[in-house]
Amino acid sequence: MTMNLSQIRSLYEKGEKLTTLTCYDATFAQVLEQAGVEILLVGDSLGMVLQGHNSTLPVTLDQMAYHVECVARGAKQAFIVADMPFGTSQVNPEKTFENAARLMAAGAHMVKLEGGEVMADTIAFLTQRGIPVFAHIGLTPQSVNQLGGYRVQGKDNKAAQQLLRDAHAVEQAGAGMLLLEAIPATLGAEITANVNIPTIGIGAGKDCSGQVLVLHDMLDIYPGKKPRFVKNFMAGSASIAEAVGKYVKEVKAGSFPAAEHCF
Ligand code: KIV
Repeated sequence: MTMNLSQIRSLYEKGEKLTTLTCYDATFAQVLEQAGVEILLVGDSLGMVLQGHNSTLPVTLDQMAYHVECVARGAKQAFIVADMPFGTSQVNPEKTFENAARLMAAGAHMVKLEGGEVMADTIAFLTQRGIPVFAHIGLTPQSVNQLGGYRVQGKDNKAAQQLLRDAHAVEQAGAGMLLLEAIPATLGAEITANVNIPTIGIGAGKDCSGQVLVLHDMLDIYPGKKPRFVKNFMAGSASIAEAVGKYVKEVKAGSFPAAEHCF
C-alpha cells in the first residue's frame, strides 16, 4: 500500500525521523523503498546529476513529468514528491496549479516548490484545490543567480528572522512539509520547534523532523567537491542497497547528520 500524507504525519507526530532521498527512475525507486526510504523526491537536481548542467534551471516540466512517471512505475509504497522546475511555480497561482496538476497526473503525491512568504498565496491556491505542497526555503537552488552562489543562508539575525517568517507563512498557507536547505543547525532546530509540519533538512542539522540527500551525492558517484552536508554512505558498503540501508538506519537513530555535516 502506498504511503500517504497522513501516514507521514503520524510518523512525525510519534517523533520518528523521516527518510527522504532523491530518485529519478523505476529501478532506484524499488531499491530505495525496499531499503526503507519513505519519501522519494523526484528533484530537479536531475538537471545536474543526470543531465550534466551546472544548475537546476534548464530542467523542463516535460522532463520532470517523465521522471515522475518512471519513479511511479517502480515505487509500490513510497510517497512521491515532484519538484516544480524553474519557471513553473514562479507564475500566477492558476498557471502554477496547471503545472502542478501535470506532475500529480504523472504520479506524484505532492509537489515541492521553492520560496517562503512570497509563495504563500500560490501554496494556499494549490492546497485548497487538492494539491499537497512541500515548501522549500533556505538555500533555494533555483535562485542561485540572485543568491550569488550555493551559500549557507540564515547566518545573521535578520536573515534568520526572515526564514522563521517564511516557515510560518508557508505553514499558514497549508504546506504539508517544509524543506530546509543549508542553514545553521541551530536555526533548523528553532524552525522545527516553531512549526507543526515536518521539516526535512539537507544541511539544516540533526533536529529537523527528517533528512534528505541527493542520491548521487550519498552514493559518491557525482563528480566534484561535495557540500559539507553530504556523507558518502557507499564507503564500507558492499552494495547500493546496503548504503541506502545505512542511511535509513542513521537518520532514524539521529546519528546522521553528525556535527561535521552541519553549519
Ligand atoms: O532537487 C533536489 O534534489 C532538491 C534537494 C534539496 C534535495 O531539492
